[in-house]
Amino acid sequence: MELTKQQIADYHRDGFLVIPNCYSAEEIAVLREDTERLCKVDAAEIFRERSGAVRSIFRVHEEDGPVRSAAYRALTRTPRMLKPVMQLQNSDEVYIAHTKVNTKSALEGSGWLWHQDFGYWVHDGYEQNDMVTTLLLMSDTKEIHGSLYMIPGSHKLGLLEHYYDDSQAAYQLPQRAVETKKLKEIMKSHAAPVPIVGKAGTLVLFHCLTVHGSGANMSAEDRWQAYVTYNRVANRPHDVEKPRGDFVRSTNWQPLPVESDSGILDSARSAVLEES
Ligand code: SIN
Ligand code: MN
Repeated sequence: MELTKQQIADYHRDGFLVIPNCYSAEEIAVLREDTERLCKVDAAEIFRERSGAVRSIFRVHEEDGPVRSAAYRALTRTPRMLKPVMQLQNSDEVYIAHTKVNTKSALEGSGWLWHQDFGYWVHDGYEQNDMVTTLLLMSDTKEIHGSLYMIPGSHKLGLLEHYYDDSQAAYQLPQRAVETKKLKEIMKSHAAPVPIVGKAGTLVLFHCLTVHGSGANMSAEDRWQAYVTYNRVANRPHDVEKPRGDFVRSTNWQPLPVESDSGILDSARSAVLEES
């Protein structure tokens, strides 16, 4: 799949692009089944709500490690995901800076304060702030599920100041967030935040400077989403004094090959063969 000129223009105008019906129900079922399996693994790459419910599973794309997943690895290399990223990055040489599966559990899943992703990554040593994240909806998502909201055009503001917030008692990871006063200004001067809702299989591409946030999951259904952050190999981070872990700041900057669009389903078939 290649993006049209119009889609590329929309991405650059809004800082995000929503593509419904990108992955099939069968593919989503494979990814969901593997997510169920990963939720039972005990690993440092897994972060939890205070209640104990799994909230985020990082580093699912690598070949090694306790949370490796052939299905997610295949997903990150499908032409449907990788080719649009290459178009938006103007490069055929991209690698994965990190992956995370956010399993925002029914009623227990907490929100995420308004931020730009680069508000976190600026400390990781990247020169250019033009990374692209793909977000795959793996459950039918409405606002009540604690959907993400994006502020259209906010990526054009450049990097905003972020404060460090460790008051999010419900969640293990401290968050970085944009100050309330600044947010009010931004919301008054931009189009209303857009909820990222849709059917499972919807793919969203978004810019690392797009301001976004989400509320708690108020519904009785889990909200499952997979995030893959791609970066140009040429923009790999320089050394920093205290680098964050490989699970969130990957140092595997081998350019990714575009693999097969059947990769996710193939991974499930291989798993069945291995078991038999
Ligand atoms: C994020 O901002 O990276 C994720 C927030 C969410 O999953 O709600
Ligand atoms: Mn984010």
